[in-house]
Amino acid sequence: MEKIVINGGKKLFGKVDISGAKNAAVAIIPAAILADGVCRIENIPDISDVTMMIRILNSIGAKIKIINKNTVEIDSSSVYLKTVLHDLTKHLRASYYLLGALLGRFGEAHVAMPGGCNFGGVRPIDQHIKGFRLLGAEVTEGNAVVNAVTECLIGSPVYLDTVSVGATINIMLAATKAKGLTVIENAAKEPHIVDLANFLNSMGADIRGAGTDVIKIRGVDQLHGCTYSIIPDQIEAGTYMVAAAAAGGEVLINNVIPKHLESITAKLVECGADVEEFDDSILVKSDGRLSRCNIKTMPHPGFPTDMQPQMAVLLSVATGTSIINEGVWDSRFRYVDQLSRMGASIKVDGKIAVIEGVESLKGAPIKADDLRAGAAMLIAGLIAKGVTEIENIVYIDRGYEDVVEKLNSLGADIKRITVRDPEAAASAV
Ligand code: EPZ
Repeated sequence: MEKIVINGGKKLFGKVDISGAKNAAVAIIPAAILADGVCRIENIPDISDVTMMIRILNSIGAKIKIINKNTVEIDSSSVYLKTVLHDLTKHLRASYYLLGALLGRFGEAHVAMPGGCNFGGVRPIDQHIKGFRLLGAEVTEGNAVVNAVTECLIGSPVYLDTVSVGATINIMLAATKAKGLTVIENAAKEPHIVDLANFLNSMGADIRGAGTDVIKIRGVDQLHGCTYSIIPDQIEAGTYMVAAAAAGGEVLINNVIPKHLESITAKLVECGADVEEFDDSILVKSDGRLSRCNIKTMPHPGFPTDMQPQMAVLLSVATGTSIINEGVWDSRFRYVDQLSRMGASIKVDGKIAVIEGVESLKGAPIKADDLRAGAAMLIAGLIAKGVTEIENIVYIDRGYEDVVEKLNSLGADIKRITVRDPEAAASAV
């Protein structure tokens, strides 16, 4: 078992390069199944969710060539299996994109229910299924497997009852080679939706409107291979911005699209940090003692739910009382128990957290409850007095490339250690 150990209280200085976007990569890799030729995908983040997605493509027969740690070539001409088993899907939520991609390619998909971050509530996929059905697929669920089958997908209007990133992506994947026009209304507008549309268009698809709430997909017969570079990760960039603001110091965050970060920039400025935007970088300066603000998370371009735990850490040591209203997930405050152990004063009532800023956090043994909660624990460790040990770091590795190295290069005192798992040791006796 590995842990991350942080000796907190150091300000951060220097520059950090942001990797490719996880949530774009995990959609674009399965989208390559739709192409007849080879897709070369660059700026892929070297994280475990991507490794797992590549393993899934391998398992159904795709030929994958790893060119270097951030570039792969995918040849899907050899894909023959239309089934993805639970052993593979249990590791990541995005495995459900195999439903849309296989359905689009073969008119048939059998995919075990996805795993992924558990926020303590249900993560339904009714809107994905509704979309597939409207396109003409027969969808059944049994033994925790979703089966979608059709002779022919036919384009259709699809109105999403709720703004869903996953459903928007899955319906785009299925509709790209359907016959006729699909119009997704109330579509998600996240940067990774636009990136997926750009990738599909560069393979010959006809998708317009991505980034707005109406996406029009005119089905094409064939898609060809392409070379494509994934956008920078909005949430990784935001995490380093918040880390710099909360710990204090001066950090240049490189390889970003500042427009994607506007809601985060606005909140940091409101709290008193100094944020300067350049063409493809952002400079964050702070003395580490910021003031309160209120946050409501919303679909893009609102404040991203995936930045909510990290901001809660910053606000836990800000002056005054802040209120966070989680507007996307039913429950995403499990990490608060860990912060309380470090001295934070946070009260949670359903989707609302009330944070009374305290003078400082103190180092403690804590754990990552999910990916972004893990990112929040890193920031908590960076700003706390004393030593913080974080368990369950597999969650952090799902979404942050070289996080220990990147933070070290900014002057943090952070390392990864391997410890003997006491339970495993006991069962080995
Ligand atoms: C994506 O999850 C991201 N994951 C999540 O990031 C992110 O938190 C979320 O979008 C919201 O931005 C990936 O892109 C792989 P949704 P997704 O469908 O697609 C409800 C991270 O840390 N809903 O947009 O699963 C749902 O319950 C991860 O990187 C339905 O009701 O999220 C939620 O309340 C964690 N029915 C809301 O919509 C459905 O069929 C948004 O979910 C689908 C969703």
